[in-house]
Amino acid sequence: MKKRKIFIGGNWKMNLNHLEGKEFVEKLLKSIKNIEKKEIVLFPPFTTLFTVSEIIKNTGIKLGAQNTHWEDKGAFTGEISPLFLIALDCEYVIIGHSERRRYFFENDEMINKKIKKALDVNLKPVFCVGEDLEERKTGKTFEVIEKQLKKGLKDVEKLNEIVIAYEPIWAIGSGINATPVQAREVHSFIREIISKDYGKEISENLRIIYGGSVNKNNIYELLKEEEIDGVLIGGASIKLEEFVQIVNLDL
Ligand code: PGA
Repeated sequence: MKKRKIFIGGNWKMNLNHLEGKEFVEKLLKSIKNIEKKEIVLFPPFTTLFTVSEIIKNTGIKLGAQNTHWEDKGAFTGEISPLFLIALDCEYVIIGHSERRRYFFENDEMINKKIKKALDVNLKPVFCVGEDLEERKTGKTFEVIEKQLKKGLKDVEKLNEIVIAYEPIWAIGSGINATPVQAREVHSFIREIISKDYGKEISENLRIIYGGSVNKNNIYELLKEEEIDGVLIGGASIKLEEFVQIVNLDL
């Protein structure tokens, strides 16, 4: 039995439009069981959120967005307000995903503003951190993670509403997941930092999840680690049969 409730997030990235998303979730709902035991959160693209939100009402499955802006409204062409997400019944929002950092030049300061804003409007951030391959090879993993954590969480108070996702960049979409031991080392390190900065009680309740090439074959081993409180799944979350198997696992 895990100490903290298991979080299973499906990050659809830029996949499944609202018609495809509808079909996917309708089929998913017919096949899954035992969802109360875990927290299942779907993260569809913005244009698919409304459709999915309608279908999952009262099912126990939760909704999240893949990004948000840090202002409520205004002249920010192409951006999405956190209040729009709340209006769609989103409970979570992914912030600081490495694909946003890398391809859309999001930096730690922007991520920090997004985290604070999300918390202000009662959206729970899934805050992503992770090193790239070069940083791992040169022994900089802990240094990088610490810097991302400290900068992303600067002046953040409500830590009990946050989920931290350790997502090593070299493991995302590569088919090479971090081993349970590699993930455990970083998760323990993150928990130590949080414990120092926020106290033991907060750190003991914080969920730290792992993301990067999680699939139906490796999830069980990863979640056996006490320090791994759940997963953020990309590729395998849009393969219906595989995602059903993952959700139905007796964890
Ligand atoms: P992946 O993506 O499972 O396809 O590696 C995970 C993520 O980017 O959140």
